[in-house]
Amino acid sequence: MTDVIEAILSRSSEPRLTAPAPSGEQLEKLLECAFRAPDHAILRPWRYLVIEGEGLKALGELFAQTGATPEEKDKLGRMPLRAPMIIVGITSPKSHPKVPEIEQAMSTAVGMGYLLLALRDAGFGGMWRTGMLAYNAQVKAGLGLAEHESIAGFVYVGTVASEKPAVPRPAVAELVSRWPAQS
Ligand SMILES: Cc1cc2nc3c(=O)[nH]c(=O)nc-3n(C[C@H](O)[C@H](O)[C@H](O)COP(=O)(O)O)c2cc1C
Repeated sequence: MTDVIEAILSRSSEPRLTAPAPSGEQLEKLLECAFRAPDHAILRPWRYLVIEGEGLKALGELFAQTGATPEEKDKLGRMPLRAPMIIVGITSPKSHPKVPEIEQAMSTAVGMGYLLLALRDAGFGGMWRTGMLAYNAQVKAGLGLAEHESIAGFVYVGTVASEKPAVPRPAVAELVSRWPAQS
C-alpha cells in the first residue's frame, strides 16, 4: 500500500490537542495542501483564517456573545482554547454560469479534508468542528466574512495530547453497491 493510502486509512480526528501547532514554512505548506482541492473553473472559492494566541481569546469572546446565560457564555468562551490554533475554512463563492455555489462549498470541504490529512502526516492533529457557531451571523461578521461568504468549519489544530478511542469504520459492502445490480 502506498504512503498516501496508509495515511488516509490511519487518519482520525483528534479532539485532545495541545501546543505546539505548526508554524512558519511548515504551516504554509499545510495550507498549500488545502489549496490543492479540486476546483471547478478554477474559481478559488475559498479562503482561510489562522487564529492563535490572543486571537483565540478574542474568538472566545465572539463565541460568548452568542450565549444566552452566563453559564452558556462561559462555556462558549472557553471553546477556542481547546487547541493552540484554529484554522477557519471559509467558502467565498464566485458568480459563475456553470458552477453553482454548492460545488464551491464542496471544493472548500475537500480542501479542509486535505488539510486534516496533511496535518496528520506532519505529526499534528486536527478536528473539524462547526456547531451552530459556524452559522451564526454575529460570529461571521466578527470574523470579517462578507454577506455572501460562509464558514465551512473550524479546524482545531495542535499536537495530539492523547488519542481518542478508535471510531468504527464501515465495511465497503455496507455502503457500496454495483449499478446496475449484479445477480
Ligand atoms: C462539516 C463537519 C462539521 C463537524 N462539526 C463537528 C462539531 O461541531 N463537533 C464535533 O464533535 N464533531 C464535528 N464533526 C465531526 C468530527 O470532525 C469527526 O469527523 C468525527 O468526530 C468522526 O471522527 P473521525 O474524523 O476520526 O472519523 C464535524 C465534521 C464535519 C465534516
